Amino acid sequence: MQIQFESQPYSSIQADALVTYIFDKEDKIEGVLADLNSAMKDRLASLVSSGEVTGKPLSLTLIHFPEGVEAKRLLLIGAGKSDKFATADLRKIAGTAFRYLKNLGAKKIVFLAREGQRGANAVRYVAEGLVIGDFESDKYKTDKKEKDKKEIQSVALAGFDSSHDVTKALDDGRVIGESMNFARDLINEPSNRLTPRMLAAKAEAMAKEVGLGIEILDERKISELKMGALIGVAQGSIEPPRVIVIRYNPEHARPGAPVLGLVGKGVTFDTGGISIKPADNMEKMKYDMGGAATMLGTMRALAYLKPAVPVICVIPATENMPGGRAQKPGDVQIAMSGKTIEVINTDAEGRLILADGVFYARKLGATHLIDAATLTGAIQVALAHIHTGAFGAPREYLDQFLESTKAAGEKMWPMPIDDEYRDMIKSDIADIRNTGTGKGGGAITGAWFIKEFVDDTPWIHLDIAATTWVDAGRPWLAKGPTGVAIPSLVDFAMKL
Ligand code: BES
Ligand code: ZN
Ligand code: ZN
Repeated sequence: MQIQFESQPYSSIQADALVTYIFDKEDKIEGVLADLNSAMKDRLASLVSSGEVTGKPLSLTLIHFPEGVEAKRLLLIGAGKSDKFATADLRKIAGTAFRYLKNLGAKKIVFLAREGQRGANAVRYVAEGLVIGDFESDKYKTDKKEKDKKEIQSVALAGFDSSHDVTKALDDGRVIGESMNFARDLINEPSNRLTPRMLAAKAEAMAKEVGLGIEILDERKISELKMGALIGVAQGSIEPPRVIVIRYNPEHARPGAPVLGLVGKGVTFDTGGISIKPADNMEKMKYDMGGAATMLGTMRALAYLKPAVPVICVIPATENMPGGRAQKPGDVQIAMSGKTIEVINTDAEGRLILADGVFYARKLGATHLIDAATLTGAIQVALAHIHTGAFGAPREYLDQFLESTKAAGEKMWPMPIDDEYRDMIKSDIADIRNTGTGKGGGAITGAWFIKEFVDDTPWIHLDIAATTWVDAGRPWLAKGPTGVAIPSLVDFAMKL
């Protein structure tokens, strides 16, 4: 799909559809809508006053053969109340328009900017929304006839400012959207087509393509480094584990600058191990490498966007299987840090591999950490599939990250990590246990377990178990993998 700026007046652009948006209870029709309304002899105003067009979030109004414009259709997307509108909402608006018009068979569309949203930020979100709207999970469908017929080939952006910043914003938005789609592709891959070794190979191909340094640790190196927590999980599978390390270095590194460490849970399939999961929905556990995909997608975007700080990405990758050598409940493992872990439940494996992951990232020089993981079912109990759970310490560091989530228009919610919860992972025979005692707080005890290996390094933990995959499609996004957290992580890295 091509996205390009169009400088001729929007009314004279030939296209299958002209798209813009309308606010809820827009008292008087203003700006470009006023122009359109007068070209259409007040028909728009009467649709609004009759209550047929409301501007409710993502509502759709399609007008065929609108007067006064060359486009064959006018599509108005509801943008909600204008005082609640944020530029990042353009992501959903553009994605919704794209998916709707693609389904109608449109080939060429025009996205028309509105007053106050003509600058770089607006363009960035429109581009991102178009790119992520264009993603479908149909890689393994052999009958592509339907799909090939329905393809939007070009999107013209009309009415935006023309400056270097705005042109660059189009590229930035496209890169972030494509990096989210890169992550979504990985998340979709079934586990027989994405083992830890294959994940490493895909990471390597990506790193080479975008010019990032990469190193892949095999099972021998992992043993040498004494990553006992990762090895404990991996030993139940015939597939060997890998640790993927990717480095981004800025051209002119400031001496003493922070080094950002991004750690992602890369469990390519989670059966639960000996504490085996029920069969219902177990197939979804191919997406237990969602954290890894998130961090790889973020690295891909950063390679293009070039933040000022160095970034190290560490991905511990393994299967969690109940093979003959699998670890068993009650086993004690020694993590790379030297801490001993009593494995109460082999299905709480994400925190085990992250223990060695975050510790290794610190050893490699990370001064600030963020991990992303499909860590717990409990986070869905707490926040449903709406917000990602964001844990962190110190609080100021978490708050700084939450600012980025707001800027990027992603819903994340701060979760508690008070010391009282730490007592729940004390073990009788080892330093810590991998599940909480007593009831409740499952997402928090999971986070605390990781924190044990982070020590005082500023750290954020994103539990994306309920947000990296959605069973129900959204108007702007296909069902399945979402690419969640990549926009926020990119924003954060760019501002660090
Ligand atoms: N991968 C799962 C968490 C998960 C659940 C991700 C649902 C996506 C959807 C994780 O490894 C796990 O099994 N966690 C256990 C922890 C428990 C044994 C303490 C859980 O949440 O039940
Ligand atoms: Zn598990
Ligand atoms: Zn898991």
